Formats: sequence, C-alpha cells, structure tokens
Amino acid sequence: MTKSNGSRRFSKRAIDIEPFRVVEILARAKELERQGREIIHLCAGEPDFSTAAPIREAGMRAISEGCTGYSEVGGIPKLRQALSEFYAEDYGIHVPPEKILITPGASGGILLICALLLNPREAMLVTDPGYPCNRHFMRLVEANAQLVPVTAQDNFQLTPELINQNWKENTVGAMVASPSNPTGTTLSRDDLKKISILLKKLGGHLIVDEIYHGLGFKKDIPSILEIDPNAFVVNSFSKYFGMTGWRLGWLVAPEDAVKEMEKLAQHLFISLSTPAQYAALACFEERTRIILDKRREIYRERKDFLLQALISLGFSVPCVPEGALYIYTNASKFTEDSDFFCMELLEGQGVAVTPGTDFGLIGAKQHVRFAYTADMDLLSSAVDRIAKMAC
Ligand SMILES: Cc1ncc(COP(=O)(O)O)c(C=O)c1O
Repeated sequence: MTKSNGSRRFSKRAIDIEPFRVVEILARAKELERQGREIIHLCAGEPDFSTAAPIREAGMRAISEGCTGYSEVGGIPKLRQALSEFYAEDYGIHVPPEKILITPGASGGILLICALLLNPREAMLVTDPGYPCNRHFMRLVEANAQLVPVTAQDNFQLTPELINQNWKENTVGAMVASPSNPTGTTLSRDDLKKISILLKKLGGHLIVDEIYHGLGFKKDIPSILEIDPNAFVVNSFSKYFGMTGWRLGWLVAPEDAVKEMEKLAQHLFISLSTPAQYAALACFEERTRIILDKRREIYRERKDFLLQALISLGFSVPCVPEGALYIYTNASKFTEDSDFFCMELLEGQGVAVTPGTDFGLIGAKQHVRFAYTADMDLLSSAVDRIAKMAC
C-alpha cells in the first residue's frame, strides 16, 4: 500500500525504531575500505579473533555428518545439558536443563523475554546509557523502555534507590547488564541481592544480561542465578565463546516461563541453527576453554593499554571497565557532538568508534565508546591517529 504522496506506508512501530549507529558507521567504514583506505575498527562489539578451532571443527563435522535439519525448538538436549554442567562447574549452582532455552543469539532471547513479559504500554526499567536494542525490542512489542539516567556515581548501573524513584504503575520489571555495554561496569553480589529483594517486594521481574560473563577483569562477577534462581538471565555464545556469526545464545528462566517462551519460539524461529548447536558443544571442552581464557587475558592487556592512552590524550574515563570489550569515555574536552566527532575521526583518520548517542540520551553527545577489538599494533596506531585529532 502506498500513501497519497506516492511513498510506501510502513508501520509507526517500524518508523519509531531508530537505526543502530554502530551499523551505519561500520557501513561507511566498509565503503572507505573499498576505496582503498585502511580503517582501524574499534567500533563493533565483536571479538576480532575468529571462532576457536575446536568449535569450528565441531561445526564442520556436524555439517559433513548431515546434521542440517531443524532441531528441537528449545535447543538440542545435549547443549542444554552441557550448559547445565557449565553452571555447576563455573558457578557452583544447579540449573536444570529444563530452565535453559537455546536462542538465536542473546538478541533472540531478549525478544522472547519482551514478548513474554510486556503488555502494550507497560514498561521495563533500563539504564541510560545502555544496550540500545533493548529499548527497540520493547517498542516492537508496543511497550516502553523506561530509561533511567545512570551516572558514574552509580557505576552506570541501576540501584535500589533509582528503581524505587522510577517505578510506576505500569512498570513490570528491570533489565540490567553486568558487565554492561557500553560502560563495562558490573553489579556486585550485594548490589544484585538488594535489587532482587526490592523487585520481589515490588512484584516485578528481574532480567540480567550476562553476555559479557567470561570477559571480566575482576575475580567475583556473580551470576544473578547464584542469588535469585527465579531471575531471567540472557546469555550468548557470541562474546567470550567468540561465535558471533553462528547466532546462538541462551536464556535461563523459571520452568513455566521457558515453556511459554518455547511456544513463542515455535512461531518466531521454529528452530535454531543445528550445526551451530553441535559446534557450541565444543565450547565446554578443556582445550577450548584454555584458548578462550587466553583471549580474555589479551583483552585485559589491550584494555589496560588503551585506557592509559586515552586518558593521556585527555579523554576522561569516569568508571574503569571491569569487563566486556569497551571503554566508555567522556570526550567533552574535544566535542559536544559525538556523532560529528566519530564521523570526523573515521573520515579524517580512519578510526571507527561509536558515539554515545547509540546508547541513550544522557550525556550522549559528550561520550564515545572505544572497543578494544584490534591487536596491540593496530591499537597503538589508532592512538597515534586519534592524537592527531585530539590535540
Ligand atoms: C549487552 C548486549 N546484549 C545482547 C547483545 C546481543 O548479542 P548476540 O545477539 O550476538 O548474542 C549484545 C551485542 O552486542 C550486547 O552488547
């Protein structure tokens, strides 16, 4: 159907949903590369290592053995079992396979959670700044992300006080991430406990995005499941396990919620990628974990280097990241327009970074996110190039 002025008619929902700025910057970076420019990518939240060899080999084996049909909608039983054992070994907790649902990336999991928990016009508390897709998924189900401004003082995380202050009649829960994107900050055991107790009192749901677990730089980054077995957990094979392109994640939820989400997944997805699930079984082998843990140490080294370099250049980093793949900087010494700054940095110096405007409204124009998803040589030349713009 077209409108009288000849343009095509799209839903209000689709028009309301903003583009992912990271993707736009990536597209421009690719265009510049096609023109022969050498671009350093510190933009997307994607590990620069390819998937570890044992996982790739398991995937290839699955394909050559013909494991290419639809799988069970909630995931192959072996993978749900492997995740249950992973929780027992890594976290010391019992998570039965029936509480685990395999999803098409964490993205598929967030969509299922929004569809399950939110009626039209209801709201979920999320941080500003925070992961942008959450609020768009909420819009997709005709609900609202209630953006709660968080600052360095709160470690860029929700606190019980902020939840209380922002809770309204139509609020159904809170979604947090630890470690978070874009700030890399975490919630301590005590923080999680207080938030969980408060949400129980308010009768709301607690959703914790744990996608950056495994990429933490401090000893104790607890799962909410150690504290509250009824919380919803979003996780993924994308980041620590390095399988972004395989599109595989998982959810942990109360059993009745899993059953309901399985029903939704039947219609939305029918199945997960079967070869990807067989590949993911190799994630839990000791030889794979050794590779992945080494990579975490490489990320730590890069984070330490880039953090110091950016601070020396005059960026301010109000919270030192405790995990994830990012440094979230206040660039107000250089710009009051982070979109313009990031485009200038890309066009002029060939360094792709993400403006704060991708992550919310508060301080967005003054903040820039740097992803340390390039090796030390590239990071070092990125710093030289940024210096040219930042002086
Ligand atoms: C906090 C957070 N949650 C979820 C996702 C979605 O990840 P995927 O769908 O690749 O598992 C991302 C991706 O960057 C993220 O940063």
